[in-house]
Amino acid sequence: MNGTNVPAIEIEHLTVSYGQVAALLDISVAIGAGQLVGIIGPNGSGKSTLVKAILGFLRPDLGRVRIFGQPLERAAGRVAYVPQRGAVDWDFPVTVREVALMGRYGRIPWWREPSADDYRAADEALETVRMAEYRDRRIGQLSGGQQQRVFMARAMAQGAEILLLDEPFAGVDAATERAILEVLSRMRAAGRTLVVVHHDLATAAEYFDNLLLIKQRLYAYGPPPAVLDQELLAEVYEGRLRVFSRLLAGRGEEP
Ligand SMILES: Nc1ncnc2c1ncn2[C@@H]1O[C@H](COP(=O)(O)OP(=O)(O)O)[C@@H](O)[C@H]1O
Ligand SMILES: [Mg+2]
Repeated sequence: MNGTNVPAIEIEHLTVSYGQVAALLDISVAIGAGQLVGIIGPNGSGKSTLVKAILGFLRPDLGRVRIFGQPLERAAGRVAYVPQRGAVDWDFPVTVREVALMGRYGRIPWWREPSADDYRAADEALETVRMAEYRDRRIGQLSGGQQQRVFMARAMAQGAEILLLDEPFAGVDAATERAILEVLSRMRAAGRTLVVVHHDLATAAEYFDNLLLIKQRLYAYGPPPAVLDQELLAEVYEGRLRVFSRLLAGRGEEP
């Protein structure tokens, strides 16, 4: 039990740039454990950069990220990334079960085969994401949404407490979106912390416990009604807000 309430992710003064381009400026925020959090903001606002910085894929100019109070270097395996659908070319003949089992590789010495425990952890994770019946299929034969669920299983098998997903709903159909959302809820119920880059403001309030609104800087972090404030969105989305206010009102296309 976590009696001291240490945040799952604590970001302090995080500043990241690509050469001369400043992508993130002085971001400080603490994300509590066991939440489903959405990162929102216009294109190019630094959402993917924030995810990469939390994973330790990028070296910040300034600031730091802590995972359950520990520096990133000491949090290996506790944070997992679920790649975007289509981000991986699955031409080679690896099965769904083998992908889930890859989550165990950090624990398996090179000289031995996976144990019964490793297989059990992989299979349990596939149950959680409702992909157990596909376990002998080749990963390349699955739809993008199913592939994402297998990657979520791999992260669970690894024992990761924090999962980061970059636009998991991009380009999936409505049924797949529901399926992924259900898996996210199940993982939250299992105590995981989930951080999801999301571009659709119309569904943001329904899907997430808390929203993090960024455009280089942190504009807001908190419950959706507070973050989806019209004035705040006008400031962050500028000219694009007209489109979004239609979306928020549930109306159709631009005339
Ligand atoms: N590898 C890179 N090299 C140079 N600039 C980059 C790179 N990745 C992202 N950027 C720039 O950093 C800013 C933030 O990008 P990104 O984090 O991808 O935003 P988002 O995910 O919100 O669309 C943008 O201005 C983008 O052009
Ligand atoms: Mg992005």
